[in-house]
Amino acid sequence: MAACGVGLLTRLSLRAQRSQVQCPLRRLLSCPGTVAADLRREEQSSGSAETGSEDRTPKKRFSEVQNERRGQAQRTVLIHCPNKIDEKKFLKFLSQHGPINSHFFYESFGLYAVVEFCQKESVTSLQNITRTPSLGPEAAIPFKSRYFNLKLRNSSNQTSELSSIQCSNQSSPSSKKLYQLLCCAESVDDQLNTLLREFQLTEENTRLRYLTCSLIEDVAAAYFPDCAVRPFGSSVNGFGKLGCDLDMFLDLDEIGKFSAQKTSGNFLMEFQVKNVPSERVATQKILSVIGECLDQFGPGCVGVQKILNARCPLVRFSHQASGFQCDLTTNNRIALKSSELLYMYGALDSRVRALAFSVRCWARAHSLTSSIPGAWITNFSLTMMVIFFLQRRSPPILPTLDYLKTLADAEDKCIIEGYNCTFVRDLNRIKPSGNTETLELLLKEFFEYFGNFAFNKNSINIRQGKEQNKPESSPLHIQNPFETSLNVSKNVSQSQLQKFVDLARESAWILHQEGKDRPSPSSNQPWGLAALLLPSVANNVSLSKKKKKPASERIKNLLDSIKSSGAENSTATNGRRAISTRA
Ligand code: CTP
Ligand code: MG
Repeated sequence: MAACGVGLLTRLSLRAQRSQVQCPLRRLLSCPGTVAADLRREEQSSGSAETGSEDRTPKKRFSEVQNERRGQAQRTVLIHCPNKIDEKKFLKFLSQHGPINSHFFYESFGLYAVVEFCQKESVTSLQNITRTPSLGPEAAIPFKSRYFNLKLRNSSNQTSELSSIQCSNQSSPSSKKLYQLLCCAESVDDQLNTLLREFQLTEENTRLRYLTCSLIEDVAAAYFPDCAVRPFGSSVNGFGKLGCDLDMFLDLDEIGKFSAQKTSGNFLMEFQVKNVPSERVATQKILSVIGECLDQFGPGCVGVQKILNARCPLVRFSHQASGFQCDLTTNNRIALKSSELLYMYGALDSRVRALAFSVRCWARAHSLTSSIPGAWITNFSLTMMVIFFLQRRSPPILPTLDYLKTLADAEDKCIIEGYNCTFVRDLNRIKPSGNTETLELLLKEFFEYFGNFAFNKNSINIRQGKEQNKPESSPLHIQNPFETSLNVSKNVSQSQLQKFVDLARESAWILHQEGKDRPSPSSNQPWGLAALLLPSVANNVSLSKKKKKPASERIKNLLDSIKSSGAENSTATNGRRAISTRA
């Protein structure tokens, strides 16, 4: 726990932590495991995951990050505030219940405050002075949660002379702003890092994700007191974009776990339980009950859908206060392990996340991915493709999963549902790659590699880091790293795969051409990544220019350009042919 009892009011707001003038404050909170320590690492390697990238700071294990964040979330409350509020008085009021470690405000159909106390007891103390509202003709279902509503006793004298509250931004930049940022960048590498910085989850957004899980855990705990609700997927694997969904895992494994040492003699106690025909039926029943609880009693949970017949049964709902679309599952512990694996890959080299974010944004910009389930490629599949591609570089930028398994020690051993999910978990034991390729080169080669990949016969396999014969006929085959008989992209249709291949080839071509004749950053023309992400903008610019010329001039120019490209531009033409002829 961070230095508690230092001051009456909050030690620092997360907003302040981001400002440049923060050294004394940072010193206050510089013990390991605190927000400040995380921020220090973030500053040292801009755009890195929670673990940093190539810096020499010891990198944190996934489990350490999860445990710290979980503890932090359990000491945190969410408060819906009046639109005008005196921040100082608000914090003074709350700090009657104990010292505050950090806080921030955000807007989402109203003003919200996220306040982290130093001690859990402060939350209980606050709950003890909180009342259940009386709603006139409507009746409230009482529930002592950590999601509060703050009302002003006498609003008129409290709202005078209020300085406006600064809110932390929870959304990604608009296309227009992104376009400007990318066009102002100094190089394609700079563009990829800018995109990562603008789209990655912020400290505040990450806190809100863990807090939302913690609030849902409180509801589930009403039925399963020892349960844990853990975030997984892109919220925690380092590849999450602002606005991504929140995948939650209801962990019931701690319930009824006994320690062999605690039992003695010839007796063994077991709980009386109800039996059901299969693990799947148990999962469905549990999720059905929790779904019902969230729907009926969960503060802020709306649009609850029980999708219990899916391969992986889930409860989907919106958490209104945070704005997250949540998917709650309970029997996919392996997905938690693959989140850990992706987190490790993302933290091993700073180029991994930068490249993956650009590929994911590129795919979204061209409607290759969608938030609606369907026959399209998913972000998870794209990340696997990026990892595989980086394993194929010479020298490799990322190690294979089989290699990570050889580095594992006895404590890393992990078997889930009969699948061997063992790999080294200490990032500091993995040697950094000697590969020094630029992001610009990697992006271009990524598109070229997959624009020419033999998808019809080969499978992508990050366990071995090499192409394998496809075991089945799905158009795209990406082996699940742990459940090796599963294809993570089984849903992808031939036409969606073809669209991906065509766009990859086109993008490789654009980058290849640009390398030779790049518009100057001041020319206001989209270039590099901007040209790839915003093709409509690029096309509009060139179309509007072309329209101004008479048709005869355009035809003459076209003929000239064909002539000259035939004579001088053979490399480019060959480049294009080389890209398009290989299947
Ligand atoms: N997962 C899996 N196999 C799949 C799909 C998903 O193992 N076929 C696991 C992965 O660990 C993935 C997690 O479930 O990270 C969550 O799935 P999903 O939300 O689809 O992907 P995210 O990685 O969270 O990406 P996004 O930002 O699109 O939500
Ligand atoms: Mg997700």
